[in-house]
Amino acid sequence: MIRPVLITVFCMIYSAFGINIDLFEDTPRRDLTFIELADYDGFTAEQHYVTTEDGYILGLFRIPLNEKCTTSKGTILFMHGLYLSSDDCLVPGPGKAHCYIYSDQCYDVWAANVRGNFYGRNHTTLNPDKDSAFWDFDIDEMATRDLPAIIDYVLMESNETQLTYVGHSQAVTILLILCSKKPEYNANIKVGFGISPTAWLDNSRFIVIQLQGVLSQTFPNSILRKEILKRGGIVQEPAKFICSVSGISYPICSGVYFALLGYNQFQITKDVLPVVLGHAPSGTSVKNFLRWGQIHNNGFREYDHGTIKNLIIYGSRTPPEYDLSKVTMPWLFAGSHNDYVANVTDINLLMTKLPNSSLCVLSDTTFGHLDFLFGKDIPNYITPILLSYLDTGKYVCP
Ligand SMILES: *[C@@H]1O[C@H](CO)[C@@H](O)[C@H](O)[C@H]1NC(C)=O
Ligand SMILES: *[C@@H]1O[C@H](CO)[C@@H](O)[C@H](O)[C@H]1NC(C)=O
Ligand SMILES: *[C@@H]1O[C@H](CO)[C@@H](O)[C@H](O)[C@H]1NC(C)=O
Ligand SMILES: *[C@@H]1O[C@H](CO)[C@@H](O)[C@H](O)[C@H]1NC(C)=O
Repeated sequence: MIRPVLITVFCMIYSAFGINIDLFEDTPRRDLTFIELADYDGFTAEQHYVTTEDGYILGLFRIPLNEKCTTSKGTILFMHGLYLSSDDCLVPGPGKAHCYIYSDQCYDVWAANVRGNFYGRNHTTLNPDKDSAFWDFDIDEMATRDLPAIIDYVLMESNETQLTYVGHSQAVTILLILCSKKPEYNANIKVGFGISPTAWLDNSRFIVIQLQGVLSQTFPNSILRKEILKRGGIVQEPAKFICSVSGISYPICSGVYFALLGYNQFQITKDVLPVVLGHAPSGTSVKNFLRWGQIHNNGFREYDHGTIKNLIIYGSRTPPEYDLSKVTMPWLFAGSHNDYVANVTDINLLMTKLPNSSLCVLSDTTFGHLDFLFGKDIPNYITPILLSYLDTGKYVCP
């Protein structure tokens, strides 16, 4: 319904300026799922399922060791950020996307999903379309239930004792919480490569986070237990359509969508943008959406239930901070001065709490929050940091 209307409006506006729109521009990768994308791009991918102890069934993908490789250099697990999915590590395409680059370098590559996103809408007993209880979760459950199930599964299948974790944004947050709450997992992570890492958001300028901050006051469960920003929903459908209509829409989409996350010098190129919008957003729960508002307001603390319940549960009016002294695994962070979500000031605060972490701040000061996933300079700026660290224990910040 909404598609034809939007396209018509769009075409009317542009034709009024005498601009010819090619409605059938070729965007074959836009609507492909993980397996289909990998296949289209000339890679092999396997579908796996992980079931958490509370019954969530999560889609997990593997790009098995590249045929060109005789031995595996190790296991890399990619985890996506808020509203996103495993597909992020394929979207920019061969030679440019995280998972393809690691596969080319002879790593056994896995890409996971957390509960509630496009590949995480499945459960042994609950129906995400009918049961509101399905949506009663936030980063704490992703950290303490999804991640252990995923990590255990990947280590078992790859017959390894340790993996390298590549996490964007919220993916860093949840591994921090896991290693704080279940410190035995520190031993399973060789290194965490945190790109655009988030924990404190005191200095985040991203407008959605500001909004979440305002909205995050205590809400009834009837509101919290719902789905938001799902793939194929009212935000993603029109965005992906408008933004793949024509090259003319590119500056507008690029501007509106990504200026919000940090203006970039079109790191996300014209061919990649429609593919991004075909795969993002990918959905989460309202409770998780608002949880990020709490973090913006309160700092990196446990769930805020409101004063009375906090007193009962935590024995204090405000929730306690996560104990990051227990996160002993090594972290390698990459940040940018133009990231409107993960501000370098906030990353530095996080690092003061972590026993073993270091940070590369990119010298390219235009790099934005999503450029760490979709930018054309990933193979120049981002992946070499990790690959060099894994090969030699050293790296040079770009
Ligand atoms: C849900 O999980 C089951 C069991 O792993 C799987 O067979 C099924 O295809 C999944 N359904 C969806 C909609 O993903
Ligand atoms: C798993 O790893 C252990 C120790 O590295 C090795 O002895 C064993 O043969 C491996 N098993 C498989 C199935 O590869
Ligand atoms: C950080 O972790 C690395 C890898 O495990 C280790 O070699 C190094 O000694 C650690 N550094 C500190 C300060 O703990
Ligand atoms: C990061 O935070 C500082 C201090 O609040 C602010 O001046 C700067 O503009 C922020 N950077 C971005 C990219 O939002």
